Amino acid sequence: MARIPQETIDRIRDSADIVDVVSRHVDLKKRGRNFFGLCPFHNEKTPSFSVAPDKGIYHCFGCGNGGNAVNFIMEYEKISFVEAIQQLGRQLGIEVEFTGSDDSKEFFSNLYEIHRGAAGLYHSTLFLDRGADAKKYLLDRGLNDEILKLFKVGFAPEQSSFLLNKVKPKNYSREVFEKSGLFGFSNNEFYDRFRSRIMFPIFNSSGKVIAFGGRVFGSDDPAKYMNSPETPLYRKSEIFYGLHLTRDAIRKAGFAILVEGYTDLIQLFQGGIKNVVAVSGTAFTEKHVQQIRRFASKVYLAYDGDSAGISAALRAGYALLKGGVEPHVITIPDGLDPDDWVQQDGAEGFRTNGIEKATGLLRFHLRSSGFKERSSSEKSNLIKEILEEAAGIPDPIIRQDLINNLAQASGVEENQMVHMFSQQIRKKRPQAQMDAPKPKPKLFTSVNAKAELGIIKVLAGDDSEAKAFVKENLDLNQLENEQLKKLAKILMDKTDINPAEIIAYFEATEDREVVTRILMEEDKTTPSLQMAEECLRTITKVSAKERIREIRLKIRELEAAGQDSTELMMEVVQLQKEVNA
Ligand code: UTP
Ligand code: MN
Repeated sequence: MARIPQETIDRIRDSADIVDVVSRHVDLKKRGRNFFGLCPFHNEKTPSFSVAPDKGIYHCFGCGNGGNAVNFIMEYEKISFVEAIQQLGRQLGIEVEFTGSDDSKEFFSNLYEIHRGAAGLYHSTLFLDRGADAKKYLLDRGLNDEILKLFKVGFAPEQSSFLLNKVKPKNYSREVFEKSGLFGFSNNEFYDRFRSRIMFPIFNSSGKVIAFGGRVFGSDDPAKYMNSPETPLYRKSEIFYGLHLTRDAIRKAGFAILVEGYTDLIQLFQGGIKNVVAVSGTAFTEKHVQQIRRFASKVYLAYDGDSAGISAALRAGYALLKGGVEPHVITIPDGLDPDDWVQQDGAEGFRTNGIEKATGLLRFHLRSSGFKERSSSEKSNLIKEILEEAAGIPDPIIRQDLINNLAQASGVEENQMVHMFSQQIRKKRPQAQMDAPKPKPKLFTSVNAKAELGIIKVLAGDDSEAKAFVKENLDLNQLENEQLKKLAKILMDKTDINPAEIIAYFEATEDREVVTRILMEEDKTTPSLQMAEECLRTITKVSAKERIREIRLKIRELEAAGQDSTELMMEVVQLQKEVNA
């Protein structure tokens, strides 16, 4: 793999101005040394999102998200580390060159280039004679030139070497052809994968073309849509179609409308309903939930009104619920999809009869399966099905809510429902336990944790006497909290390390939450030698107590086995002295 040299990364991170980076997206107000604004990563009305320009970091005291400028760009734009570094580099005028195998660097840039070229070729063809019929068809469907240009919709003619001829002179390697997903191979020759199709380029979140969806046009190919396969550029479960253009509208609205098709999304967008995303030619997965959760706390499902659409909506709805996103379902008239509906009643019709009349997931589930008209055994089965979904919801409040609502909606007594639920999960306990997320540790409340935190603050502060004292006396093994231990080690090893750089050592989100919080906190009482001494004494005592507990257990074992335990007893006495000191 191609790599960006560490020194370039360091240079970019150190030159980045965190306030500049964040304020492109968040309205920041200065208060004291820091800046505050509304957190872009969760919904809030009073600002708990803070930025420390001197430290080069941000931290939200509401949701915990935190990091340096690079992390912010990655989280906000949903792009990779490398992309974030490249973006910052461009803004700062620092050239980002890759080292390592030149081959792979070239490979990726060739893949991007071949997609950009293909999108351009297909798009211009749509506006030429060869694409006239396809273009007329799209206009007849109510789309205008402007929107076709914005989404770079194109046309791939019948010919099997249309794209191939265009890219041949570029002398791309064989691997580029194979891995692009744009060509098939037979009789020792590559040929265009997309022929006689209206082409919808699929973009990544920074707006680069990484794949295509092609709708059949002017041929009798039974596959209505053909999509690019998974490629090194295109990870289907991570990509939403249209998101590069709809992200801001989704943030602003606080909810996203999820549709199935490319045309549904484009039609709604053209009608002024811009907070839309589509899954591109693949099932809606947990990964999609993770993605969308960054932008919206609610998702309105607008799937086709037929039975396949209904069951897909239910699947997506429960996936969202399990991921902590609130699902709402828009009831689309049978036989229509959002695109048809907008063509028929305009975007206003979709808004008033669709969005504003959307129902909760449970009501939609019961209604679409005709719950009321079912026999009692059918009812019971359906309830069990829903309780099964409830068992997969890790958040106890959301789970309880679903169970209570189910009781109410089905007319079963609440405690009866709870009983049914617990019976059901008893049967499947191991599964349920595996799905449960690990509980978030409540940090720094115990005496020991506070002392550990104090040590860190001394190390990160600027009282050099106190720092030297800690460096001399701290045994890292005495620190229990793994994140703090790692942080302490970094601070002990390096002198003159700035907070933005410290953050770079912590890749996991949870770690960054903890570490940015510590680094962000204003140290009003400057850590002093006295504080260092007290904290060290506390953690030494705590680890002595721990040791005593371990030894006592051993002593008991020895005694049970009738063996001598004098030596261990002596050790306990010694440790006890330390504790009492
Ligand atoms: P639809 O069959 O509902 O098509 O598939 P559509 O979007 O309404 O298209 P039009 O209106 O007939 O032009 C919905 C979505 O499912 C995926 C595509 O992403 C499509 O947009 N799909 C559908 C496929 O990937 N393959 C198929 O064969 C059909
Ligand atoms: Mn359609």
